[in-house]
Amino acid sequence: MPTVEYLNYEVLDDQGWEMDDDDLFDKAADAGFDEEDYGSLDVAEGEYILEAAEAQGYDWPFSCRAGACANCAAIVYEGEIEMDMQQILSDEEVEDKNVRLTCIGSAETDEVQIVYNAKHLDYLQNRVI
Ligand code: FES
Repeated sequence: MPTVEYLNYEVLDDQGWEMDDDDLFDKAADAGFDEEDYGSLDVAEGEYILEAAEAQGYDWPFSCRAGACANCAAIVYEGEIEMDMQQILSDEEVEDKNVRLTCIGSAETDEVQIVYNAKHLDYLQNRVI
């Protein structure tokens, strides 16, 4: 069963950390954050990450649940998340910035690390509903 390790973007930002810090998840693991902000989820094959987070009792941001906004966006730090059809993110955002929509995204690798709540990134603001 794939595991998704997550970190809240707002926490990363508060700490002054960067998306491309080499030891981002090591630092997060050592920092003693609440489980809301840092932890891991077991996800079934093909299960949407947003739904897995909700099933575990977390309140991650979303709006349309259909790949048409940026509210549920996360950044993949390690591993891969495959999305259903979406038209809201550019190729550059998907391929270079590793942005994924968690409402239509499922784990493609056994271990995935993501920064969720990425809707707060400046370049996604214009697509947050
Ligand atoms: S909630 Fe709108 S794309 Fe996921």
